[in-house]
Amino acid sequence: MPRLDTQVGIVGAGPAGLMLSHLLAREGIDSVVLDARARETIENTVRAGVLEDHVAQLLRDTGVGERMDREGATHHGIELRFAGRGHRIDFGELTGRTITLYGQNQVVKDLNAARVAAGGRIVWEAEVLEVAGAETDTPRLRFSVDGAAEELACDVVAGCDGYWGPSRQAIPAERRREFERHYPFAWFGLLVEAPRYSHELIYALHERGFALVSTRSPEIQRLYFQCDPADSADDWPEDRIWDELRARLSTTDGGTLPEGRILEKAVLGMRSFVCEPMQHGRLYLAGDAAHIVPPTGAKGMNLAIADVRVLARGLVELFGSGSTTLLDGYTDICLRRVWKAQRFSWWMTSMLHRFGDDPFQLALQHAELDYIAGSRAAATALAENYVGLPLELPAAELRA
Ligand code: DHB
Repeated sequence: MPRLDTQVGIVGAGPAGLMLSHLLAREGIDSVVLDARARETIENTVRAGVLEDHVAQLLRDTGVGERMDREGATHHGIELRFAGRGHRIDFGELTGRTITLYGQNQVVKDLNAARVAAGGRIVWEAEVLEVAGAETDTPRLRFSVDGAAEELACDVVAGCDGYWGPSRQAIPAERRREFERHYPFAWFGLLVEAPRYSHELIYALHERGFALVSTRSPEIQRLYFQCDPADSADDWPEDRIWDELRARLSTTDGGTLPEGRILEKAVLGMRSFVCEPMQHGRLYLAGDAAHIVPPTGAKGMNLAIADVRVLARGLVELFGSGSTTLLDGYTDICLRRVWKAQRFSWWMTSMLHRFGDDPFQLALQHAELDYIAGSRAAATALAENYVGLPLELPAAELRA
């Protein structure tokens, strides 16, 4: 059986796996990334597009931020829209910080290009079947390429393979505690060729449900609205989509949403999920393999990048001095931040979606939004979570 060897075997070539490989390479640590999907599939799958400022800065600081700075957009606030009126939350004024609009799949493209140019080893269409020996000093990834069995021997495994990937299953069930919450709605996501409707993101609560206006470029817009999880994209002909969006975004004084050609439409399920611990022996989980947030607030990729920043520092320590101090604390360091992002994503979701038709619940949601719109303290609480909470690395590590 062909055998590859590396220091860090990385399962998953999404943002977490690629960024980890990139950060490790900069420190002289070798890795191999395996992903069951084709490169084009990952690069062309539209996902979220909001980068916290520490993520945008990390891309810049490590030489992969050039296209983001050229094609992405810096946003200084968002709009909350309810009861037919918009209310701006000014991130700049409240936190001194900003967010960057740049698609997750664009980040993936830039990281792929950088890794390939640097001679990094990424094997696409390589399906990992098993993470073996996580409790030993020589874990192995068993994978198949074109039906042929192969094996990757490594010192450490990083499971960056998402919620459905095999890595998490390598933590014995009796050692794992999983927290999960399902929501009684989904998002209908659209990619549209149309002019911009708004300079900033709009999060709207309407009697008919939630709607979100986002953007990818002056010509390409990203729109979402709350739908039934049992809906399929075909249940929504174009006229019905535009009617629904217009109704939910209507204001007493605003303009109309420009229609355009729909390039993509999909129903996106939502859940909250956390796996504790995020590590077992020499296996470390990062990103969606360990935690899923509902999309309201766009924390998914940001959390994944924060995880691999911690993991990369821990691995630098391990391979540098042999010390496992930082790695031993990996779960605790990551989960403090993960749970705060879970709370924020759950809170944004609860505040902005319709749960059934309970008028009391809707009145409470309006009161909460009205409170945020009128209170600097409440608006600041939203803003500082939205732009991103501090990384929980020990201070010495943060400076490194
Ligand atoms: C986007 C996605 C989100 O989940 C969100 O809260 C804001 C924006 C986006 O895809 O642009």
